[in-house]
Amino acid sequence: MSTNLSITYTAPWKLEAVDLPIPKREFRGKILEHAVIVKVIATNICGSDQHIYRGRFDVPAGTVLGHEITGEIIEIGRDVLHLAVGDIVSVPFNVSCGRCRNCKTQHPEVCETVNDQAPLGAYGFDLGGWQGGQSQYCLVPYADFALLKFPDRDQALDRMMDLAFLSDILPTGYHGCVSAKVKPGSTVYIAGAGPVGRAAAMSARLLGASCVIIGDQNKERLAVLKKGGYQTVDLSTSGSLKDKVDAILGVPEVDCGVDAVGYEAHGHGENADTELPETALNDVMDITRAGGSIGIPGIYVGGDPGSKLPRPKKGTLDLILGQVWVKSLTMTTGMAPVMNYSYDLMQAILWNRIDVQSVMDIKVVPLTAGVDAYKTFSDGSPKKFVLNPNGYLKNS
Ligand SMILES: NC(=O)c1ccc[n+]([C@@H]2O[C@H](COP(=O)([O-])OP(=O)(O)OC[C@H]3O[C@@H](n4cnc5c(N)ncnc54)[C@H](O)[C@@H]3O)[C@@H](O)[C@H]2O)c1
Ligand SMILES: [Zn+2]
Ligand SMILES: [Zn+2]
Repeated sequence: MSTNLSITYTAPWKLEAVDLPIPKREFRGKILEHAVIVKVIATNICGSDQHIYRGRFDVPAGTVLGHEITGEIIEIGRDVLHLAVGDIVSVPFNVSCGRCRNCKTQHPEVCETVNDQAPLGAYGFDLGGWQGGQSQYCLVPYADFALLKFPDRDQALDRMMDLAFLSDILPTGYHGCVSAKVKPGSTVYIAGAGPVGRAAAMSARLLGASCVIIGDQNKERLAVLKKGGYQTVDLSTSGSLKDKVDAILGVPEVDCGVDAVGYEAHGHGENADTELPETALNDVMDITRAGGSIGIPGIYVGGDPGSKLPRPKKGTLDLILGQVWVKSLTMTTGMAPVMNYSYDLMQAILWNRIDVQSVMDIKVVPLTAGVDAYKTFSDGSPKKFVLNPNGYLKNS
């Protein structure tokens, strides 16, 4: 009998690996001729999934999690003209139609038609009802528009441990740096040494940054970056961020700031174990020089059900906006428009211009080990977990 083993959300801190029916090319009673079914090759656990796991982003019980999906097409709708069964594809985490005003102007991250509650859609988030890809099979709508097809099947399978990050974190980190206007010679501060911060660090280098500084309170994660030749600042120790940056650059400011932390940020020094949601965003605002730009891939939400603080619970933060105004900073927020970058980043991988594995510390585990991997990742492990639901990859 066919199976579709999937990781589903039950309640905060409670996930299950359950067997579900294999999805059909059907959504809310309609056959989707523009859709494909993919057999999942690699599906990664993301910091964004962790917001759900920790009860900080509500999804209905039974939701299949996961939005970082790479797979093989096994079934195809009549209206899919440019893909075929057997193609190996990267699925951008944004669900987008390619037909609305925003999609037509290169803003697939705010597609207006795939979610009737808000102009953005994603797999595995209850943003439009699209089930996630931490499963053996997944429904992907608007396939011609959305999917990035890898040029060669054998090469794609061979390089999967790099290509698997094109569905989210690599384009997301890159978007953070492009938004922060990183260019040859730039000095950059990246808040957060999680997988997105590490992807941003690699991207800053690819864009020609001179000095890339990453801040975090997690020593183990910083050590991975240090080994990769990046500058790091340990925010768990005493002293201000400005002094720590000054000690590296000789000036207490950078050209470009990237917040790769989001609303579950912690404080500095003696507050390193305390959640202070505005810390990372205020840090990048404070450390970026006048006239500079800030990219904010770290997620901020309209309401945080798990926050103990009354204002963040309603989605309101205490920001140093006056300073931002005085310094004439430019800020870019929002989901990353993955497809805007994924083709170019694929080429950068295939031509060895970017070495993903140097700082990603990848661990491949079977889907059944996914529930435990969520906990290990949430506890601060430097590993990026890649689930292997159909045995295409070697578990490590
Ligand atoms: N915009 C997008 O499209 C997009 C896509 C993917 C992920 N994200 C978001 O990006 C953020 C990072 O993702 P991730 O997978 O790396 O998550 P993660 O939770 O693994 O990493 C966050 C890191 O930030 C560190 N941190 C906490 N407070 C800090 C502070 N004040 N300064 C510096 N570091 C601090 C934590 O110790 C942790 O290492 C999350 O909010 C995630 O939801 C956004
Ligand atoms: Zn993700
Ligand atoms: Zn659209």
